[in-house]
Amino acid sequence: MTEYNSIYQGYIQRLMERMDQDLPRLFAEGSSVGEAARYSLLSGGKRVRGVLVLAVCKMLAGDMQAAESFGCAIEMLHCYSLIHDDLPCMDNAATRRGKPSCHKQYGETTALLAGDALLTAAFEEIAFSDAEKGQIADAVLCLSKAAGPAGMVYGQELDLAFEHKQPQRADLMRIHQHKTGDLINAAVALGAIAAKADSRQKALLKNYSDRIGLVFQIVDDILDVTATAEELGKPVGNDDLCGKITFATLEGIEKAHLEATQLTEEACALLIAEFGDAADFLVTLAQSLLVRKN
Ligand code: IPE
Ligand code: IPE
Ligand code: MG
Ligand code: MG
Ligand code: MG
Repeated sequence: MTEYNSIYQGYIQRLMERMDQDLPRLFAEGSSVGEAARYSLLSGGKRVRGVLVLAVCKMLAGDMQAAESFGCAIEMLHCYSLIHDDLPCMDNAATRRGKPSCHKQYGETTALLAGDALLTAAFEEIAFSDAEKGQIADAVLCLSKAAGPAGMVYGQELDLAFEHKQPQRADLMRIHQHKTGDLINAAVALGAIAAKADSRQKALLKNYSDRIGLVFQIVDDILDVTATAEELGKPVGNDDLCGKITFATLEGIEKAHLEATQLTEEACALLIAEFGDAADFLVTLAQSLLVRKN
């Protein structure tokens, strides 16, 4: 295993241990909504957002306890977004993370509530953390803005509104920035909050996360066309089926990939210029998002 992979796996392990510890407090015993939430939350996933929180905090030599809570919180919130995204009224996807999606396993009502539960639990997780009060307030503001009505929810609204329509490039940029980019930005910003970064460091990190967030969704769009369902653990060809124009279909796969490559190079160069060797892990992470297969 490369050093990068072993650090990545170590971060996932920290997140999973923290979730194991905190979930019994967050969910009522015997609750089927809780069971459905655990089913979706604990069944794999790349944990990119949680890992970003930990890696940014580590690079800035911050408080890793706070970063663990914030990392779990954003993974819970992200998982809620996936459960709702898969519902028949949204993308109508029958599989997720290599298993039946939440509503296929537990029914729509329970899946809807499991999403609600994870969204709310994410903020409880932050509030309950042992970070300082000011950090907790900053983290709540950061995640709520990113996930809420002017953030990810707005991106999902636009994504659905443009089904069976012809979005322009600027429309797609706006959809992707909100539905995916906002949470990736939040992950990086939460790591910075855990590390009490100054505003200059936060601005520099945002240059990085703006780019990798966009890359993340461009690659997701490409994989929907080029990968297999086994590789992805979720349906392929679903964007076309839903009548969604994506970067892959609007620009073609080659051009979309080239754009993602350029954005990744910029993101990495900006980070190295500021943080030098300390940025190694985040640079490799950005590069791996470009060539990921799932
Ligand atoms: C999928 O996110 C939804 C998008 C924003 C494209 P991920 O690809 O991070 O999903 P998991 O968490 O690894 O399952
Ligand atoms: C999902 O985008 C974005 C959110 C869940 C907020 P997609 O709909 O493209 O994600 P997948 O392809 O279902 O994972
Ligand atoms: Mg969607
Ligand atoms: Mg979807
Ligand atoms: Mg997709």
